Amino acid sequence: MKDTISELHKQFCADLETILEATDFQRVRDQYFSRKNGQVTLLMKELGKLSPEERRDAGKLINDFKNFAEQELDSRQEELKRRAESLALERERVDISIPGHRPALGSPHPIVRARQRIEDIFVSMGYSVEDGPEIDTTFYNFDALNIPQGHPARESQDTFYINDELALRSQTSNVQIHAMQRRKPPFRVIAPGKVFRRDTPDPTHNPMFFQVEGLTVGKNITMGDLKGTLQTFLEKLFNRAITLRFRPSYFPFVEPGAETDFSCYLCASKNSGCRVCKGTGWIELGGSGMVHPNVLQACNIDPQEYSGFAFGFGIDRMTAMLYGIDDIRHFFAGDLRFLTQFR
Ligand code: DAH
Repeated sequence: MKDTISELHKQFCADLETILEATDFQRVRDQYFSRKNGQVTLLMKELGKLSPEERRDAGKLINDFKNFAEQELDSRQEELKRRAESLALERERVDISIPGHRPALGSPHPIVRARQRIEDIFVSMGYSVEDGPEIDTTFYNFDALNIPQGHPARESQDTFYINDELALRSQTSNVQIHAMQRRKPPFRVIAPGKVFRRDTPDPTHNPMFFQVEGLTVGKNITMGDLKGTLQTFLEKLFNRAITLRFRPSYFPFVEPGAETDFSCYLCASKNSGCRVCKGTGWIELGGSGMVHPNVLQACNIDPQEYSGFAFGFGIDRMTAMLYGIDDIRHFFAGDLRFLTQFR
């Protein structure tokens, strides 16, 4: 019996070494302590066959071995637990010194930025920002603006008609009419927004583009107010002294009407090789004039009592100037390589 136990002792020590994880532990423990045929259980059964003296000695040896094995198994189990814990800690470790992933930040489209600058300047000059429909009736788009039947601007080659009555607005001037119907003079509004024309895209044209319309109605409003307003606006926008000039022109909804040019913001009319004004010294802003009496009347405003001025210019062209961009089609291509430059 003594030999068997010391053999078992040796075997047990070797088996202990095979315990690497929980399943090994279970296997070794069962091997020695399983109630049915664990090695210790079997030895106990053997005890019955021995004489009383032998049994006492052998019983002690078995007991010693049992205690020893249980203790060893316990400490092995402890160790397994500790190892599992430290593995879990290692696995879940967070290295707070690793640089994070920065989420890609969006930014306003350059046209939106320019539009906001334009709005801010006019708001600082007492203007309200007016919104108007992008799909409008021919009444607002043309008739009320004194654009007669048969005028080339109404033609379907130029305008996107939805039906006989409705069209995508071809100018923000339609908001003039909505504003005059909604408000009582005196008032000052600007109306920035999208307009649509059947133009073939090229570096300066796109079938959808942006305009801003301006309208001031009140008593004794003159062409001088128009000029001062546009000049002040441009000086604030380009942050430098600007001269304005009017060239007589015809727009059905104003009389007199004028094309407006401003002195080049880059060379101030001095440089014959200037890339912005092509050496002319002047940059075209847009159309303007004194609101036609017919237009005031169409909105139930008495032209004897009130007068007004109106102007309109392209926001896309202005944006291109502000950011030095040579092709407005970049604005509408949705190419992030272009757009992410404006942060
Ligand atoms: N609506 C005109 C255009 O799209 C621009 C314009 C000209 C607006 C004269 C005005 C104006 O308010 O008075 O070409």
